[in-house]
Amino acid sequence: MLSFIIALLVNLLIETSVSFTVVVPPDPVVGQIGSSVILPCWIVPPEDAEALEIRWYRQEKFSNPVLFYNNGKLQDTQEEPYRNRTSLTSRSDQSGGLKDGDVSLRLDKLRVQDEGPLRCYVSGEKQYASEDVFLKVKALGSTPVLVPKPLDDEQINISCRSSGWYPKPNVTWTSDDGSPLHPGGSSHSRGADEMFSVHSWIAVSRSDAQLVSCSVSLKTGELKEGRMDIQGIIFSESSGPWKALFFTFLIFALLGLGLVGFFLYKYRERLTGKKPAKENSEEETMEKLTKEVVGDENIEDAVVGDENIEELRKHAVEITIDREHSHPDLKVTKDCKIMRDGPNYNQTEDGFPYQLCAFGTQSFTSGRHYWEVDLVTPPNPPKDYWLIGVAKHGHFHEKDRSALTPSSGYWFLCSDGPHGFHTNTVTPVKLSLTPRPEQLGVLLDYDDGQLSFYNVKERKHLLTISSRFSEPVVPLFNPGVGDLSPLKILDCPNPDELTVESSQPLLSNNSSDA
Ligand SMILES: *[C@@H]1O[C@H](CO)[C@@H](O)[C@H](O)[C@H]1NC(C)=O
Ligand SMILES: *[C@@H]1O[C@H](CO)[C@@H](O)[C@H](O)[C@H]1NC(C)=O
Ligand SMILES: *[C@@H]1O[C@H](CO)[C@@H](O)[C@H](O)[C@H]1NC(C)=O
Repeated sequence: MLSFIIALLVNLLIETSVSFTVVVPPDPVVGQIGSSVILPCWIVPPEDAEALEIRWYRQEKFSNPVLFYNNGKLQDTQEEPYRNRTSLTSRSDQSGGLKDGDVSLRLDKLRVQDEGPLRCYVSGEKQYASEDVFLKVKALGSTPVLVPKPLDDEQINISCRSSGWYPKPNVTWTSDDGSPLHPGGSSHSRGADEMFSVHSWIAVSRSDAQLVSCSVSLKTGELKEGRMDIQGIIFSESSGPWKALFFTFLIFALLGLGLVGFFLYKYRERLTGKKPAKENSEEETMEKLTKEVVGDENIEDAVVGDENIEELRKHAVEITIDREHSHPDLKVTKDCKIMRDGPNYNQTEDGFPYQLCAFGTQSFTSGRHYWEVDLVTPPNPPKDYWLIGVAKHGHFHEKDRSALTPSSGYWFLCSDGPHGFHTNTVTPVKLSLTPRPEQLGVLLDYDDGQLSFYNVKERKHLLTISSRFSEPVVPLFNPGVGDLSPLKILDCPNPDELTVESSQPLLSNNSSDA
């Protein structure tokens, strides 16, 4: 009898000291592609988990886990795509960590392929327990880019494109009063990175609406919107039929509530080799366009955009100036970041000094790359003269603006003092930017053939030039002549440092003493 009671007590003691269960959140954990996520998992009752075996693995991959901790340290055995991306972490600041039975997993640089259940498995000498955490991933894509094409006198075909979404997003069109418009067609495609791109088009009459908006959204409600003022689209009188093969699109779309995007757009027949004949009448049209924009300036002024600059900075690259191939009359600092017109440069002709170009040392053949340029050195006012973009060739000494075309490998936005801002696209756009940008952000999306400009301080998208890049391109700069402030390439803050989630990892695969 006594021995039975003792046996029972001993049994009870053993039971309480080794018996635990694993707890995970009941709902899926959602993470943004490219960033980090914490998958919570802990044991109850709490006990020191340092002596236990901890495994995180995907279905059926027990022996090839995502993370494996045993004998008091992380083990090398690991599924290859997860190398250097996992660590054990605390599920919250209040958690006592591993010593308190918290075996949560931190997963960095999330990919689409990470979606699905992950099993949290904890094993002691006498027992083991495990539970699944469901990981969902999502990605908010790019701001939709709207491009119009004339169909006939009345109708315009507007196409809307956006990429980098996950899961599959929804595209909706609305007019200014919020009523839905029916697209002529929409399609989705998936890139090598498994993310979704969308393309939708709509045929609208000028009499239908003032503003047309294309919004791309996730089921969870996040959305990005592009708007276009279709009354602001003016096709020049000399227009011939659209020549799809020869154009470079230019768009000027602003997004965000209450923001009005003024799209200035003209096109002309462009037969190979022939220069436009009616330059004068076009200049007049341009003047008219500029006035129209200036007239509505206050709308633009009143609202600060909601462009997510931090998101853009994830693509930040360090840019330095290639001093060897810069124009000899430019002064470039030793660190290859700051440039201005040198004292020896004598401007002989009026107009923008197109030849005073400098090029980035870095050249790009794919992907997205972002850099920022400082255009003001207080107490001086923001620069009046600058030219910023990308170029195919890393050297150039032509004076002639007409030599600087997309077909000869130049894409840029130029600020020409009192003459305002213009692009060098086949259908050039003049625009008024108020206030003058103090910091200009440049996003090159090589694969999608887009070069976008942002006013960093105002958090506004200014315009996007769409083209096709087929050869390496390098950043292009020109500080103009006569400004007090130099042109300075900024070092973008590293977004990784700004987005540290919750606590630091307790243990990570690449820490030597783990
Ligand atoms: C993991 O990090 C180590 C050292 O930091 C590095 O040598 C190795 O190439 C990385 N492995 C992968 C797959 O990124
Ligand atoms: C409108 O443009 C898209 C391409 O952006 C094209 O696929 C569609 O057929 C066009 N629609 C009409 C009616 O021309
Ligand atoms: C897309 O949006 C429309 C209108 O809001 C809605 O009716 C439809 O169910 C949505 N589709 C998806 C797949 O979310």
